[in-house]
Amino acid sequence: MSPDPALDIEALSYAAGKEHKILKGVSMRVGHGEFVVLSGRNGTGKSMFLRCIKGLLNPDGGIIRVDGKDLSKRPKERNKSIGLVFQDADTQLVGQTVERDILFGLENLQVPDKERTARIGSVVRLLDLAPLLHQRPRTLSGGERRRVAIAGVLVMQPKILMLDEPFANLDYPGIVQVLESLVELKRQGTTILVATHEIEKLLAHADSMVLLDGGNIVVQDAPERVLGIVEHFGVRRPSYHGKPIPVAHLTWLK
Ligand SMILES: Nc1ncnc2c1ncn2[C@@H]1O[C@H](COP(=O)(O)OP(=O)(O)OP(=O)(O)O)[C@@H](O)[C@H]1O
Ligand SMILES: [Mg+2]
Repeated sequence: MSPDPALDIEALSYAAGKEHKILKGVSMRVGHGEFVVLSGRNGTGKSMFLRCIKGLLNPDGGIIRVDGKDLSKRPKERNKSIGLVFQDADTQLVGQTVERDILFGLENLQVPDKERTARIGSVVRLLDLAPLLHQRPRTLSGGERRRVAIAGVLVMQPKILMLDEPFANLDYPGIVQVLESLVELKRQGTTILVATHEIEKLLAHADSMVLLDGGNIVVQDAPERVLGIVEHFGVRRPSYHGKPIPVAHLTWLK
């Protein structure tokens, strides 16, 4: 395994328009196989940060390395090796049927038929999508759409998987399914970055937690150490009868 981090971001800056500076020199590292939770108040720039990393927005400055390779000026390569499940799942669905939708991204890659079938089989099992395969994406519920969007990203087998608010709209079984998939992917060695406020659902599985505020990362550290300050940055610290819940219990998996 390479000693370089999977993702290494240095002094990334991004402004929406001329005036509105959103990211002001953000630095962050994600090691191979690590699971990192990114949080912070609404409008703080989490979604834009993920879009910059993926190569969908063009940062004004900074360095983005993937596996030690400087890809700052190569958004297409970043786009290929980094998967992003959008906060708004609808923007991602394009196919006529769920099955076609999941396969859409693979069509431009030279993936042999046999491997294609194996990959789709595995994401369909992981996210329990078999009953939906022949439905039109437009007829799905919000939660079903999100699971299909996640499948469409996973089937590409990105080196780094990023998910933006993956639990929005999902019911309890949907959340458990997505969480189980993430835990399984982590077990398989996938590097994962999740932007979410809903830390009570998954923080127990994270290796580190990052807080973004005022255009900068205020902390990246072990979840135990970050949890004490989250409320200063717009994130609720999970508690029960007024007592903070320990990190090990912050999961919706049994
Ligand atoms: N096209 C745009 N032009 C100018 N400002 C924009 C544009 N799009 C988004 N913004 C602003 O950029 C900031 C960062 O937005 P972003 O969606 O990244 O926040 P976020 O941290 O993901 O928030 P949330 O927790 O609500 O998902 C917000 O203040 C938003 O209003
Ligand atoms: Mg967002």
